[in-house]
Amino acid sequence: MERLRVAVIGTGFIGPVHAEAVRRNPGLAELTAIAGSSEEAAGEAAARLNVPFYSGDYRDVIAREDVDLVHICTPNYLHYPMAKDCLENGKHVLCEKPLAMTSAEARDLLRLAEAKNLKAAVNYNLRYYPMIQEIKSRNSKSPDGRIFALQGSYLQDWLLHETDYSWRMESKLSGKTRAVADIGTHWMDLAQYVTGLKIEKVLAQFGRMFETRRKSAGGRDHTFDRGGEKKPSDYTSYPVDTEDHAQILLSFEGGVLGNLTVSQVSAGYKNFMEYRQMGRDVSYSWNSEAPNRIKIGHRDQANEILMKDPGLLHSRAASMSAYPGGHQEGYGDTLKFILRDFYSDVLGRSVEGGASDYPTLQDGLAEMLLCEAIIKSAETGEWMEVGV
Ligand SMILES: NC(=O)c1ccc[n+]([C@@H]2O[C@H](COP(=O)([O-])OP(=O)(O)OC[C@H]3O[C@@H](n4cnc5c(N)ncnc54)[C@H](O)[C@@H]3O)[C@@H](O)[C@H]2O)c1
Repeated sequence: MERLRVAVIGTGFIGPVHAEAVRRNPGLAELTAIAGSSEEAAGEAAARLNVPFYSGDYRDVIAREDVDLVHICTPNYLHYPMAKDCLENGKHVLCEKPLAMTSAEARDLLRLAEAKNLKAAVNYNLRYYPMIQEIKSRNSKSPDGRIFALQGSYLQDWLLHETDYSWRMESKLSGKTRAVADIGTHWMDLAQYVTGLKIEKVLAQFGRMFETRRKSAGGRDHTFDRGGEKKPSDYTSYPVDTEDHAQILLSFEGGVLGNLTVSQVSAGYKNFMEYRQMGRDVSYSWNSEAPNRIKIGHRDQANEILMKDPGLLHSRAASMSAYPGGHQEGYGDTLKFILRDFYSDVLGRSVEGGASDYPTLQDGLAEMLLCEAIIKSAETGEWMEVGV
């Protein structure tokens, strides 16, 4: 096969971002179909994105001969049934995070993909910032056991107001944890990927701003959409049963200490993911709102700021810098590079800058197991071992 023929399911926020990223890998893939929640939504997206086939029923898309691989970009409760249908129809899958609603569902997908000999990835795309890759490369070159603490946060503010609504507010659509599954898993995936250290135990506390929130009849069109002006009569109340924010202590293997704060209600923080790594020799810190630099901290000499410049980075990080130093690499570029890695593996091609190591179903399962341990810990107030 020369190029993969790809379909995207979901036309909200992230679906069109995937569609664009498919087209930024023209030597590996082409976009042949799109599915939405209705014929109208799918047709509108197909016209806007210039996709040859569309349907309001995703099963029409995965039944097609000219589709080899499907991107699942729908609310969380649909990931498992849609991924299962794709695998049963012989399609490779790239599923948005979190992979499923439970670890049992994630395990089932893993079993099915193995049985069908199909490839599958979970979209923990934030691994693909070049400066994150640079920290990973530096870690792999330093002696074992030098890292002793990992600290960080993922903070947003788009659900701060009582009338801010997303399907993520409803646990039947989103899962038993909201902020942790939605954004905390990005951080935990990244920390484990960058260091190679697994999280073994967790102690968590959840917080909620409102027990009841209000949503408008139409809700948001898609994630991060602020909606239009509304009158009080446009709203109905609904109970909230998931966390707006959480703090989690993490015990990594080898006795490495970790802590993570996640929040969807922190005013002024839009998509602020911070990663700090403390080592015996140096510390590294990075955040997603200024992603093209890392601070390298020293005890006995001046600290350094390393700006993204492919000429100064290790080969894999350099291969994820499409632009020269000073020109910014951003969120959209992480999608381009995760697809490059995944598609190359599906096609059996080598990847520029080293072996592809995209997040697999195993990584998706690991995050579900972490979510389950974190929920249990928040309920009991006790440290919980993470399942395997
Ligand atoms: N990796 C990332 O950085 C990232 C960022 C945002 C969202 N996500 C994930 O992507 C997924 C979608 O989130 P979003 O923010 O795009 O949500 P969204 O609400 O903006 O979009 C979801 C879309 O799915 C569509 N949909 C619902 N049911 C459908 C069905 N049966 N068939 C086809 N389409 C259907 C909706 O109409 C909507 O267009 C979530 O799982 C979320 O966690 C990941």
